[in-house]
Order: sequence, then C-alpha cells, then structure tokens
Amino acid sequence: MKYFIANWKTYKSLGEAETWIDSFTGKIRADQKLLDRLNRDEVKIIVCPPFPLLYPLKKKITENNLLLGAQNISHFDEGPYTGEVSGKNLQGIADYVIVGHSERRRYFGESDEILTKKINLSLKYGLQPIFCLDNANQPIPNEAKIIAYEPAKAIGTGDNEPVENVLSFKKSLDLKSTAIFLYGGSVNENNARDYLSQPEINGFLISTASLDPLSFYNIVSLV
Ligand code: PGA
Repeated sequence: MKYFIANWKTYKSLGEAETWIDSFTGKIRADQKLLDRLNRDEVKIIVCPPFPLLYPLKKKITENNLLLGAQNISHFDEGPYTGEVSGKNLQGIADYVIVGHSERRRYFGESDEILTKKINLSLKYGLQPIFCLDNANQPIPNEAKIIAYEPAKAIGTGDNEPVENVLSFKKSLDLKSTAIFLYGGSVNENNARDYLSQPEINGFLISTASLDPLSFYNIVSLV
C-alpha cells in the first residue's frame, strides 16, 4: 500500500481547486493500471485542501475513489472557540487530518501536549490523523498510526532528504509494526521513484508538487 497525500496549504481558490480535481481525475480515469490499484486499495490518494474547500470538493473526490483530508483540527472539542474548526465540524466530511506539521508547530506554537489532544479528538470523530514530525525528539502519540517524517529544511526548498537518511530515521523511531511511515519534503516526479522503491517507506506527503495536477499525477503514476 502506498499513500500519496496532497497538502495544498493555503493555496487555491474554489475555482482553481475544482479545475485541479477535474484535470487530475481525468488523468486517473485514463489510467487503467492506477484505477485497478485504487480499486484494490493498493494506493490511497488523499487530497488535503483548505477547510472551506473540503465540502465543495467532496463529491468529485469520493466519486473518483480519492480521499479527503483536512490540514488541521482544533485541540478543543465543540464549544465557544470562535474561528476554530473542531473534529465534530469535520466528522463525515474529511477522512484524514494532518496533525503536527512543522509549520503548525513553528508559526502557531503547537506543543506536544496540544498535538496529543488533536490526535485524540481526530480519532473521537472518525478522522485518521497523519502525524508529522521533523526530528526524533518529538514524541509520537501512542494512537498515531500514520507517521510522516518531514525534515523542516527539506520542506519547499528542493533539498529533499536522501533516502538512506529517511530509512535510518525510521529505524531510530522504533515504530509499531502496524505503523505507516511516510516521507515529505521536496518530493517531485524526479526523485519520488527512489523512495517508492523502498518497502519501508509507505508513501508521501507532498505540497509544492501537488499543486499542479500533472506533477502530482506524474508522481502517483510511478507506483
Ligand atoms: P513540499 O512540502 O512538498 O513543498 O516540500 C511538504 C509539506 O509541507 O508537507
């Protein structure tokens, strides 16, 4: 099983997002090999748009066998927290949620304690968390099953982390055998094959190269 997760961050208007979906799903529908793999659940493609675009894209996403992820979840449960988006708000809309991205840790001060709350609330509301970390000192909450290693220096820089380092990082984590381990950081259509050929690496979290439907498709189609 390989995961391909598109993290759109704050990019894209609704119109741009719809155009992306049409173009990407057009490519997929023309690719029988990939369609078969999606149907057999050998490949999971998860698109993570900004919050307001989740629901408008849901129909097109799900009818094409893709999955929907949110990029964040409040560490508060439902209640008087103006501007927050709770797990309950996302329930039934998103399937996955990104938790602990280095940008959230850095710009929004998300501590290990906050991230554990986010993991628990994700699971409470039926969202599968994708837990990101950029170094081995960041604790992994027990319930986190999908782990994405994203070294901060590799994010958006073109300086992807060599495969050997990703593999030795994984070893140092001592993950459960059921854990799903992803890599993220400047993955593109030229370097993706090196990671995909490793059974120890279960896929990618991709931002820059996911913004263009053709680049993202070119990565997914390497599987
Ligand atoms: P990048 O970002 O693919 O642009 O390096 C990855 C991420 O931030 O998840």
